Amino acid sequence: MSEWTTVTKTSKIKEGRGKSFTVNGRRIAILNENGKFCAVDNTCPHAMGSLGRGRIRNGTVVCPVHGYTYNTETGECLTDPRLRIRTYPVMVEDEEIRILTDPI
Ligand code: FES
Repeated sequence: MSEWTTVTKTSKIKEGRGKSFTVNGRRIAILNENGKFCAVDNTCPHAMGSLGRGRIRNGTVVCPVHGYTYNTETGECLTDPRLRIRTYPVMVEDEEIRILTDPI
């Protein structure tokens, strides 16, 4: 069953950056684009790069390993349409970032 889990505080993730966390057994990257937070699978399906270390711009995250680019809202890979990452609903309340996940 899906549940909202508090992951971190907004001040812990700088603008244009991301950070990875383990939430309910999943590796998830929380990304900050101009103060808007989103959550995606941390592991790039191309070759396991960490998307939490990627650059965030124009609604995308760029994998730091080979540069594959993913839409942070839909999870689609713009570099290789066969690849996709999962995205998760995010809620910010009292400067805490919560995401909705189901356990593995
Ligand atoms: S591992 Fe992410 S682009 Fe290759």
